[in-house]
Amino acid sequence: MGNFMYHILICSIILFSLTDVLGSNICTSRGVSTCKQCLAIHPSCAWCFQEDFGLGMASSFRCDLRNNLLEAGCEAQYLEFPTSNLTVQEDRPLRHKATEGHGEVTQIQPQKLHIILRPDDSRQFTVKVRQVEDYPVDLYYLMDLSYSMRDDLVRLRYLGNSLAEAMGRTTSNLRMGFGAFVDKPLSPYMITSPQEAVSNPCHGIGASCLAQFGYKHVLSLTEEVSRFTDEVKKQQVSRNRDSPEGGFDGIIQAVVCKEKIGWRQGASHLLVFTTDAKTHIALDGRVAGLVQPNDGKCHLDSDNNYDKSSTLDYPSIALLTEKMSKNNINLIFAVTSPVMSLYQNYSELIPGTTVGMLSDDSGNVIQLIKNAYEKIRSKVELEVQGLPEELSLSFNATCLNGEQIPGLKSCSGLKIGDTVSFSVEAKMRGCPKNKQRSFTLKPVGFRDALQITVDFQCECDCQRQAQPDSPICNQGNGTYECGICQCHPGWLGPHCECAEGDYSPSEQDDCTPASPGAPICSGRGDCICGQCTCHASSFGKVWGTFCECDDFNCPRFKGELCSGHGTCDCEVCQCDADWQGELCNCSRRTDTCMSSLGMLCSGRGQCVCGTCECTQPGAYGSTCNKCPTCPDACTIKKECVECRQFKRGRLFEDNSCDRICRDQIQLVDNLSFHDKNAVNCTYKDENDCVQNFQYYEDNSGNSILSIVKEPACLEGPDILVVLLSVVGAIFFLGLAGLLIWKLLVTIHDRREFAKFEEERTRAKWDTGHNPLYKGATSTFTNVTYRGNAE
Ligand SMILES: *[C@@H]1O[C@H](CO)[C@@H](O)[C@H](O)[C@H]1NC(C)=O
Ligand SMILES: *[C@@H]1O[C@H](CO)[C@@H](O)[C@H](O)[C@H]1NC(C)=O
Ligand SMILES: *[C@@H]1O[C@H](CO)[C@@H](O)[C@H](O)[C@H]1NC(C)=O
Ligand SMILES: *[C@@H]1O[C@H](CO)[C@@H](O)[C@H](O)[C@H]1NC(C)=O
Ligand SMILES: *[C@@H]1O[C@H](CO)[C@@H](O)[C@H](O)[C@H]1NC(C)=O
Ligand SMILES: *[C@@H]1O[C@H](CO)[C@@H](O)[C@H](O)[C@H]1NC(C)=O
Ligand SMILES: *[C@@H]1O[C@H](CO)[C@@H](O)[C@H](O)[C@H]1NC(C)=O
Repeated sequence: MGNFMYHILICSIILFSLTDVLGSNICTSRGVSTCKQCLAIHPSCAWCFQEDFGLGMASSFRCDLRNNLLEAGCEAQYLEFPTSNLTVQEDRPLRHKATEGHGEVTQIQPQKLHIILRPDDSRQFTVKVRQVEDYPVDLYYLMDLSYSMRDDLVRLRYLGNSLAEAMGRTTSNLRMGFGAFVDKPLSPYMITSPQEAVSNPCHGIGASCLAQFGYKHVLSLTEEVSRFTDEVKKQQVSRNRDSPEGGFDGIIQAVVCKEKIGWRQGASHLLVFTTDAKTHIALDGRVAGLVQPNDGKCHLDSDNNYDKSSTLDYPSIALLTEKMSKNNINLIFAVTSPVMSLYQNYSELIPGTTVGMLSDDSGNVIQLIKNAYEKIRSKVELEVQGLPEELSLSFNATCLNGEQIPGLKSCSGLKIGDTVSFSVEAKMRGCPKNKQRSFTLKPVGFRDALQITVDFQCECDCQRQAQPDSPICNQGNGTYECGICQCHPGWLGPHCECAEGDYSPSEQDDCTPASPGAPICSGRGDCICGQCTCHASSFGKVWGTFCECDDFNCPRFKGELCSGHGTCDCEVCQCDADWQGELCNCSRRTDTCMSSLGMLCSGRGQCVCGTCECTQPGAYGSTCNKCPTCPDACTIKKECVECRQFKRGRLFEDNSCDRICRDQIQLVDNLSFHDKNAVNCTYKDENDCVQNFQYYEDNSGNSILSIVKEPACLEGPDILVVLLSVVGAIFFLGLAGLLIWKLLVTIHDRREFAKFEEERTRAKWDTGHNPLYKGATSTFTNVTYRGNAE
C-alpha cells in the first residue's frame, strides 16, 4: 500500500505542477532537471539544493522564483541565486593634457568595468568620450617622385616647417615621416633604352635624375622636423615611361610595415598620398609578366627599398581597404585636378579616405592635410574589439545636444574638446566555454579604450560540491549534485532507484499528461520507471516531463524557423538580441533607418522593425529620403543655415539645431562647382537680404553646406515712401489734369467770348434793317368786316 500512497502523491504532484504550468511562472513552466538549466531559463529563477527539499517531487520543483522557494521551506543558505552585477573598476575623469595637470590624457571614461551576467540577462553602462585637444598625430608623406612632380619637390623642401607649425596648432605631439614611389622597375613601365637611361632615365631629355624605383621608405616617423626637411632636400625625381604610377605598392608597404615606418599605437595615423597621375592597380602587373598577387606583407629590405617590386603584382583595392582598417590608417589622396575624379572614385571604394585637390605646385597641401585631419577628428565612433559571440551589445548615442539617439554608436560634427556619451547594453545570449571573457570598447582612431571583463554565470556554485557515485543515489548509481541525483546510464528515478530494465505498466499513469485523451509521453517517448524518456527526433530535440517540448515546432517566416533570428524553445521563439516579435522577424535596429542627414527616416516617417514607414505623403525610399513633393532641400536646409550660421530661426529657438543640422559648414566668398548633385539655394532672410548657399554631399557621404559669407543686402525701398509717392503722384496727376482741363476750358471760353465780342461789334449795322428780318407779328385783315364802328 505504501507504493499506492506513493503513486497518489506523485499523481497529485503532477496535477499540482500541471496547474502550475497553466498559471505558472517562467521558472516552473519548463520542467528543468538541473541547476544549470534552471539558471539558464530566466534571471529571476533560483534553485534550491537543500537535500530534503520537496521530498519525492520531481527535480523541477527545485527551480522557482526565489520567494516561492523560501516560502516552500528552502533555507536561504541552500539557495543558488546568482545576480548580475556591474562594477566600475577604474573611473578616472576625462582630462586634457595641456590644461589639467600632468600625466596622461584621458579620452574615455570609465576605463575598466567588470560585469557578472546571468544567461539572458543584461546590464547597461554609459561611456563618455571626449575629443582631446592634444592628440598625437603620425603623418607619413608618401610622394610621387616621377618627373612631372619636380616642381612639387621644390615646394616640399619648405613644407616640413610650415606643416609642423600648422599642425602644431592642433597637436603638440606631431611626428612626420617620408617615403617616395615611382613605379615597378620593369619594362614596359621603365625606360630601358638606350642603356644609359636605366641608370639615368632623364638621359633622353638631357637632364640627370635618379634611377627608377618602386617604393622606398626614406624617413621613419620622427619628432624632429629638421630631419624631415633635410631628408626631403636630398630627394631627386626619377622618370618612367607610362603615365600611371605604382603608388598603391607604396601605400600597402607604408601601411603594413608598422615597425619600419614607426606608427605609434595611440596616435592618429595620417598617410598623405600625393600624385598628379593615374595609378596602376591589381592585374596591371600582367603587362610586365607579374602573375603573383600582392600578399599584403611587409617587404622592405635593409636599405628600406621595396624588394618585391618586380615580383608581386600591384595590390587590389580590397587588400588596401583591409590593411588600412586593420592598422587604423587614414589615407588622404592629395591629387591634382586632372586625376581628382579618379581618386574620388577610389576613395568611395576605400572607407576612411579623403580626397583633396592639390594645386599644381602643391602649394595648398598644408591646408588640405589640416582639413582632412579636422574632418577625421570631427567624428567619434565606438569600435568593439574581441567581443565574445555569446554577448551582444546595443548602443544609444547622446551627441552634442543631449538627446539620445537609439541604435547609434557614432557622433559627428564634433569639435575638439566636445564630450559625447554612449549608453551601452550588454546582453548575454549563451554560455561560452570559458567562464570569464573580456573585450574592449574603443573610439576609432583613439588610443584609450574601455576594458570590460565579463563573468558568465552559467554554472551553479553547488556544482563544485558534487559527489560522484554518492551513497545518496542508490549506493553509488549516480552523482549527487545540487540536491539531486544525476543517475548513471541505465538508472532512473529521483534517487536512481529504478533500473531501466524494470518496466512496470502501472507506472505509465505518471507519464500521461492530465489533458483527456493525451497519449503517454505525448506519443514521443517511452515511459520508464514512471518517467518519460523522449525519443530522438530527426527534426531536433524533444524534452519535457511529458516530452511536450521540442525545438522545431516554432512558427516560420519565409521558410526559416523563427525567421532565422532566434532559437526555438518549447515551441516559443527566443529571439536573438537585435530581433523581436513572435516570429523574431522584427529588427530592433534603428541605424538602418538613419538617413545620410542623420535623421531617422529623414524625419518623414517612423522606423518600424528596422525599415522606414514613410508617413509624409509622397515620401519613399529606404530612409524616406526621396520625396519630390515634400519641401525641397533648399527649404529644409535654409533652416540649418539660419540656425547654424546666424543663430536664429525656428530650429535655433527650439534647440534642435544640432540634432537636425549635422552638416559641415563652409564659408565661401562665392559659390563654386562641387558636385553635379549640388543644389544651389537662395532665400531672403528676415533683414530682406538675399542669402545664397549650396548644399551637397561629398564622397564620404558628409553633407556640406557651403554658405556665402556676406548676404547680398540691396537697400530695399521704404514702403511709406512708395505709398506716399504713389498717392502723391496720383494726386498731382489728377490736379494737373484738372488744371489742364481748366486751362483748356478757360482758353476755349476766352476764344468764344472774344468771338462773340467781335461779332457783336460787327453786328452794329444790324440796328438798321435786316433784309432777311421778318417781323414776328403778322397782320391779317378780315375782309368781311367793315368798320361799322367808325
Ligand atoms: C555588486 O558587487 C559589488 C562588489 O562586488 C557589491 O558591493 C554590490 O553589493 C553588488 N551588487 C549587487 C546588486 O549584487
Ligand atoms: C568616376 O565615377 C563616375 C561615376 O561613376 C564616372 O562617371 C567617372 O567617369 C569616373 N571617373 C573616372 C576618372 O573614372
Ligand atoms: C536605447 O533607447 C531605447 C529607446 O529610447 C531604450 O529602449 C533602450 O533601453 C536604450 N538602450 C540603451 C543601451 O540605453
Ligand atoms: C547500483 O544499485 C544496485 C542496487 O540497486 C547495487 O547493487 C549496485 O551495487 C549499484 N551500483 C554501483 C556501481 O554502485
Ligand atoms: C513578421 O511576420 C508576420 C507574420 O507573417 C507579418 O505579418 C509581418 O509583416 C512580418 N514583419 C516583418 C517586418 O516582416
Ligand atoms: C565673387 O563674385 C563677384 C561677382 O561675380 C566678383 O566680383 C568677386 O571678385 C568674386 N569674389 C571672389 C573671391 O571670387
Ligand atoms: C551652382 O552654382 C555654381 C557656382 O555658381 C555653378 O557652378 C553650378 O553649376 C550651380 N549648380 C546648379 C545645379 O545650378
